[in-house]
Amino acid sequence: MGPAAGLPSGAARSLERVSRPASIHVCSACGHSSPKWFGQCPGCGAWNTLVEERAPLAAAGRGRAVGGAAPVAPVPLAEVRAPAVERLETGIGELDRVLGGGLVPGSLVLLGGSPGIGKSTLTAMALGRLTAAGRRTLYVTGEESAAQVALRARRLGADALRVPVVAETDLDVVVATLERERPDVCVIDSVQTLHAAQLGGAAGSVGQVREVADRVARAAKGHDIAVVLVGHVTKEGALAGPRVLEHLVDCVLQFEGERERTHRALRALKNRFGSTNDVGVFDMRADGLVEVPDASARFVAAATRAPGSAVLAAMEGSRPLLVEVQALVSPSELVPPRRVCSGIDRNRLAVVLAVLARHGGVGLGTSDVFVNVVGGIRVDEPGADLAVALAVASAARGVPVATPACFGELGLTGELRPVAHAERRAAEAARFGLDPVLAPAGSGPPAREAPSLRAALRAALRGPDAATEAAAVAA
Ligand code: TYD
Ligand code: MG
Repeated sequence: MGPAAGLPSGAARSLERVSRPASIHVCSACGHSSPKWFGQCPGCGAWNTLVEERAPLAAAGRGRAVGGAAPVAPVPLAEVRAPAVERLETGIGELDRVLGGGLVPGSLVLLGGSPGIGKSTLTAMALGRLTAAGRRTLYVTGEESAAQVALRARRLGADALRVPVVAETDLDVVVATLERERPDVCVIDSVQTLHAAQLGGAAGSVGQVREVADRVARAAKGHDIAVVLVGHVTKEGALAGPRVLEHLVDCVLQFEGERERTHRALRALKNRFGSTNDVGVFDMRADGLVEVPDASARFVAAATRAPGSAVLAAMEGSRPLLVEVQALVSPSELVPPRRVCSGIDRNRLAVVLAVLARHGGVGLGTSDVFVNVVGGIRVDEPGADLAVALAVASAARGVPVATPACFGELGLTGELRPVAHAERRAAEAARFGLDPVLAPAGSGPPAREAPSLRAALRAALRGPDAATEAAAVAA
């Protein structure tokens, strides 16, 4: 006793006095944690990898959980009963289709898109329709004032005006409100503006955004609230925020388009309750978003058919869609020359240009090449290669593309490779009188088949009968 007894109690007291930090900084590369933020991780030396997180709960609680937990018996998957999930239909057909039939209660949906694209408009409209259908809804706005939200709702009509709104950025308040109101559907606009008081970082930082999603997810699951988190993503993906959420949420929707144009496309990048194949198409009007169930018609009507224009029979998910691909080729003063594209992948364009040069006799080493998919549509599928090649070759030669529509993937040896859904693409083209569609060998009778890029170029840039000739020559 005596001095020996005094020491530990004194040590305990001094320990008590040291306040534990509410947050820690964890390296996302090696897992090293530190109470302080460093630009360079002291653990692995990586830069800018430390992310603020809430400090773990007291060790006592964890120790008990590990020591006293009872094991559970694994169950064969066949015996797991999956309850039929009820869907909350938003009444916006294109949105419901992309969601896989509507919102799932208790699920988290992340709606991403660049600023001004129409995320708030889409969510306000959806909540309006849900309210009109008798669902309990809540619109949490951290970005705009309630007055601004009301102003938008006035443009969208009577339904949107009936949505209850909360203007709040404090996460604790938002979660408490969710737990009291228990709406069927809640929109949080945006996830980057909410702030968790337990963490020090600024709203919108990686740690903050993750904490917001985590807390909201728990409230959503606990009370069966379907939550739509709105998140800004810049064109360059510069804002780190929403990206880190993709694995935390059940569904990631991306709202795309060009702000200057009225055309908008909604696609699912991830969906635990449906396919990621569907794309919703909208038109931004003065009184909100209007669904465009037949997008092909509008793109076909708008196609210029001038040199540098080709119509692509693309697949937008499970739907065929006719889009116009435009190219411009001009002498370059730059080394290396410029390659600018929108709507297609840059690397894919590089491949197409290389194949065109090597196997199509269209060398563009001293030319700037610009390629654009009209209407702000993105075609991320190999079937777009041929249309890009034809548009570029047509622009380079100043000859219009003679084939009404086309699709096909370019192989590195200059062959034209078959792609999925050939019949549906050809049928969509035929629906608009754009037949025969120029397609890879094996695509079936309604299509005009070309075995190689060379044959396709001959068919498309010379005349309607050249493809069969070329096929005969190649055979
Ligand atoms: P908004 O939904 O606020 O975009 P986000 O939430 O993605 O930042 O809408 C952006 C643009 O849409 C805005 O510039 C105005 C326009 N707009 C319309 O053209 N029609 C409408 O009915 C509404 C509400 C907005
Ligand atoms: Mg907004």
